[in-house]
Amino acid sequence: MDLMEYQAKELFAKHGVPVTLGKVVDTPDAARAAAEEIGGVVVVKAQVKAGGRGKAGGVKLAKTPDEAFSYASDILKLTIKDLPVRKLLIVPAATIEDEYYFSFLLDRSNRQYLTIASVAGGMEIEEVAHTNPDAVKQIGIDPGAGVDEAKAREIVEATGFPAEVAEQAVDFVQKLWTVFVEEDATLVEVNPLAKLSDGRLEALDGKVTLDDNAVEVRHPEDEQYVDTDSTDPLEAKAKEKGLNYVKLDGQVGIIGNGAGLVMSTLDVVAYAGEAHGNVKPANFLDIGGGANAQVMADGLDVILNDDQVKSVFVNVFGGITACDEVAKGIVGALGILGDEASKPLVVRLDGNNVDLGRQILRDANHPLVTIVETMDGGADKAAELANA
Ligand SMILES: Nc1ncnc2c1ncn2[C@@H]1O[C@H](COP(=O)(O)OP(=O)(O)OP(=O)(O)O)[C@@H](O)[C@H]1O
Ligand SMILES: [Mg+2]
Repeated sequence: MDLMEYQAKELFAKHGVPVTLGKVVDTPDAARAAAEEIGGVVVVKAQVKAGGRGKAGGVKLAKTPDEAFSYASDILKLTIKDLPVRKLLIVPAATIEDEYYFSFLLDRSNRQYLTIASVAGGMEIEEVAHTNPDAVKQIGIDPGAGVDEAKAREIVEATGFPAEVAEQAVDFVQKLWTVFVEEDATLVEVNPLAKLSDGRLEALDGKVTLDDNAVEVRHPEDEQYVDTDSTDPLEAKAKEKGLNYVKLDGQVGIIGNGAGLVMSTLDVVAYAGEAHGNVKPANFLDIGGGANAQVMADGLDVILNDDQVKSVFVNVFGGITACDEVAKGIVGALGILGDEASKPLVVRLDGNNVDLGRQILRDANHPLVTIVETMDGGADKAAELANA
């Protein structure tokens, strides 16, 4: 889960990383009031979970409260990388002498953590890496050892922080590491980390990605960061029902058991779709091991409520939950859904008790259900029906 700048800064403050929190507002009037309260020149900053806000016109310096009002109205009308701006952060303008880039991230491929840092900060780090690759330093971090003072010194030296900020930088690096570890983040990024005119270092921007796997048990307080405004309503509904669902942009709804089978079903449907008007999978949905009637009904309910869906492919391999149970689940689900089940369903069952499962479906003889023998055949049929 990505956090917005103001949320990242709250976590920074909690662990002693130097930041100015400012005020979060959602109307131009509130922006003016915040600017008045802060006093002096302020910066009006769009709060969206995307980079490049400055370039998109989402970061403006306002000299008076009236200017803050007018920039706020402009910025609240912006959409930055498809994300509508709904919140603004109003912070006092800092006098910047220098801008640096600093981040910690999880380096999965090397099974370690990584610092990426540069004294050429401010602009996008991808651009610096492109135009001046030597200015971007990468320092690996042994996950067992972490970042102690000695490691922080090594990082500061390797990055090339100027001598006059080196001691502060060592402190900053250690505190940011605490944020990274204690908050279970997979990324913390500060761009710019600024040297102000009074010589202090301050994080003027912050980006944090939290490890979703840690939220439920280790950080229940992080639920507050879930951005329900921009969560897809179908995904929200699926989550509520405990389903593993990801909305995609196609026409063939997919239900399967086991992430591997569902992934390969997506591939097979995408391939079959090429011969049927280029229809594509509409979602990922793994109903897992216990495919009883209620789970099947919940899954179908979510998928059938996707307006883009024209057909559904149920692809289940009976294991511990045998095919007859799954078949009963499908029949039961169609019963539960009644008239809400309005799109053709292609069902492929295989594995444990397959004959019994198919027999149950044949006996039910539901007008929307087509029984198929193979996964390829099912994908083809579902794609054909979606294109009809
Ligand atoms: N409090 C501040 N005072 C003065 N200038 C600021 C302040 N905050 C940001 N700026 C300036 O605006 C620039 C852009 O701000 P910021 O880094 O927060 O957004 P961004 O980089 O455009 O967004 P992102 O990092 O999400 O791509 C900074 O590089 C800095 O020069
Ligand atoms: Mg930035």
